[in-house]
Amino acid sequence: MRIFMDTANVDEIRRGAAMGVVDGVTTNPSLLAKEGVEYRDRVLEIAEVVDGPISAECISETADEIVEEARRIAAWHDQVVVKIPLTEEGLAAISRVSAEGIEVNTTLIFSANQALLAARAGATFVSPFVGRLNDAGHDGMEVVREIVQIFELFDIETEVLAASLRGQRDVTEAALAGSHVATLPPAVLFGMIKHPLTDQGIERFLADAKSYKPV
Ligand code: G3P
Repeated sequence: MRIFMDTANVDEIRRGAAMGVVDGVTTNPSLLAKEGVEYRDRVLEIAEVVDGPISAECISETADEIVEEARRIAAWHDQVVVKIPLTEEGLAAISRVSAEGIEVNTTLIFSANQALLAARAGATFVSPFVGRLNDAGHDGMEVVREIVQIFELFDIETEVLAASLRGQRDVTEAALAGSHVATLPPAVLFGMIKHPLTDQGIERFLADAKSYKPV
């Protein structure tokens, strides 16, 4: 499973990329709003740090406007994947821009049916929002499992990108569900490193090493 970072904070992305484990980045208007920077500038900055897909989101609502916006966003950089929300107008736009070779990450997916439609329209990625499904009392990871199973059954090439992941266990579950990608908030990514037994082990090794270290 590939790991993307779900943030528009370039310092966090740099920290993740330095570990050699970041395959891409996803952003959205809410993440950009926290940064107070121009969307295009930030995407170009991220492209200097990460060599992989960078999702940038459309905010238009009609198919024609989404198509126009998607073309504009896609032209920012060849790593850009255009994020389009799953609506009727969005699907019409996805099928049009995908036919032009623009890569699309269909966002705000909450059911396997929505994912199937996005895939049929030609999306490169579908993003089921696991945490928000759980917040609403559903089993978010079950939706990921269903999408993975359907895509496998029909040899659909669209990749499943598990999004809205809130904790480290979600990452393990997404991998076990067969998700192709998981996009992680920085706290989840960096939290994955830590284990109290690792810290204890290092402490003990360092203490024991004092008995033979040259002084
Ligand atoms: O990738 C989508 C993500 O940013 C949404 O996460 O925690 O706002 O549901 P959350």
